[in-house]
Amino acid sequence: MNLQTRIGIAIAVLAPFAGVIAFLSSGDDNHLEAQQTRWESSTQCKSCHEDVFAEWQSSHHKIAFTNPEVRALSDDFRKEECMDCHLPRPLAVTGFGKRTLPRRTHFDEGVSCITCHLGPDGGIVGRNDRPEVPCKPKRSEEFLAVDACASCHNQHGTTDQFLASHYQKQGNTCATCHMPEVERQRGDKSKRMGRGHVYDGCHDVPTLKKASEFAATRDGGELVLTLKNVGAGHNFPTEERHRAVDMMYRFVTAEGAGDWQRAWRFRMPYRDEMDPINPGNASGENTQLPAGETKSIRVAIPDGVVAVEARLWYRLTPFVDDASPQSTLLEERRIEL
Ligand code: HEC
Ligand code: HEC
Ligand code: HEC
Ligand code: HEC
Ligand code: HEC
Repeated sequence: MNLQTRIGIAIAVLAPFAGVIAFLSSGDDNHLEAQQTRWESSTQCKSCHEDVFAEWQSSHHKIAFTNPEVRALSDDFRKEECMDCHLPRPLAVTGFGKRTLPRRTHFDEGVSCITCHLGPDGGIVGRNDRPEVPCKPKRSEEFLAVDACASCHNQHGTTDQFLASHYQKQGNTCATCHMPEVERQRGDKSKRMGRGHVYDGCHDVPTLKKASEFAATRDGGELVLTLKNVGAGHNFPTEERHRAVDMMYRFVTAEGAGDWQRAWRFRMPYRDEMDPINPGNASGENTQLPAGETKSIRVAIPDGVVAVEARLWYRLTPFVDDASPQSTLLEERRIEL
């Protein structure tokens, strides 16, 4: 290949980054169009996108750096590697789909509008090209792809689990479930459709309830507890290794109700955990329930039992009991015998 072709290729490869480089090198604005806004903070979007801004403010993305749970576990971010995703630079800077790097600005904005919506040329990216609109959004396939979420959401395999599921084969994305369609009002009071920015997950009970179907039935002398993952586009529970889902039961006799017993726990253990999650699991075995799959457990019913009670619990951490605010009762069943 001759020199001219090589230079041509080099320019073609580097061109998409020119904007980011210009954006990052402060004081050197010559490369930017004279009137292009420098997008640096979510507050710049607030006046024109009030609903989106309010949704984002109530989201866990907004509190990623201020969340007390995260501050406690990261030793107030003295563990610097925790900043990579909890106070990230824009995805476009490191590359959509690549692990993000930490920033040192806008500490109260966590995962911000800028993190997701800044394009490689310093402009705004979205679903449609809208040159007539003040923020001049441009369509970006990379921004819309599931890979954009993977930059931060594949540490524990959530994105890989989704990619292996029937949801992905049917053309869904993470946004299908986590960014539901919502109605928005334009400045002139006309309506248009938009996408929610609350990103409900495991801190929202209705979202948790959508994930699975729970059943308790009697089959001869046995109690059968069944859980099917019907609504999570990935394992249930997913992400953090301390999330757990428990199927519990107790027998009721003429004397009253016995103690609650755990029939099965769905969870991904920490790497250094020696105890198996359930009797019969290998040490370190992941028992999360993949999308579309069903798990049944059979328990022999002793003589003298007049009723069985069964419950499905979601726990933000496995080291708590039923009374803890970290435990959420999702389903409850009673079978009279
Ligand atoms: C690769 C990106 C990434 C890195 C690095 C990372 N996190 Fe996270 N963290 C996430 C994502 C994504 C979530 C949301 C998923 C969830 O809540 O299960 C999360 C959630 C959390 C939560 C749960 C918050 C809540 O309110 O329940 C805690 C606590 C946390 N992280 C602590 C840490 C600590 C401590 C470190 C450093 C040792 C760290 N994270 C490093 C991506 C990351
Ligand atoms: C001066 C007002 C103004 C500001 C500031 C502004 N926008 Fe916009 N933006 C608009 C208008 C108006 C629309 C078009 C809405 C409609 O469809 O009616 C829009 C549309 C969008 C879209 C949708 C593109 C699509 O796919 O159709 C995105 C994404 C967007 N803005 C992101 C942002 C972000 C992120 C910021 C802050 C960094 C921002 N905007 C700042 C006025 C603004
Ligand atoms: C730059 C990193 C980053 C990107 C990109 C990102 N997230 Fe997150 N996300 C996080 C972090 C960090 C948290 C947890 C913050 C906390 O709880 O402190 C989180 C939390 C969540 C939660 C859980 C909320 C809860 O209740 O715990 C959902 C759902 C979510 N993100 C979905 C998405 C989806 C869908 C995408 C892609 C459109 C996406 N995220 C892109 C970093 C990211
Ligand atoms: C079919 C709907 C659906 C799809 C598709 C889907 N999710 Fe979820 N997601 C759920 C439900 C339901 C929950 C609540 C149950 C749970 O925590 O597993 C959830 C929970 C979460 C949580 C909270 C976990 C925690 O511990 O805080 C995160 C983060 C998340 N999803 C990210 C993603 C990402 C990233 C994608 C795409 C790769 C995705 N989801 C695709 C339905 C979906
Ligand atoms: C975690 C990444 C992420 C964050 C943070 C985020 N967005 Fe978005 N936003 C998206 C994605 C992805 C879409 C496109 C969804 C689709 O069309 O499939 C979108 C769509 C939009 C749209 C068009 C749809 C609508 O509802 O009007 C606007 C406007 C917008 N975002 C503005 C903002 C603003 C303003 C902020 C900060 C307050 C923000 N976004 C924060 C990922 C994000």
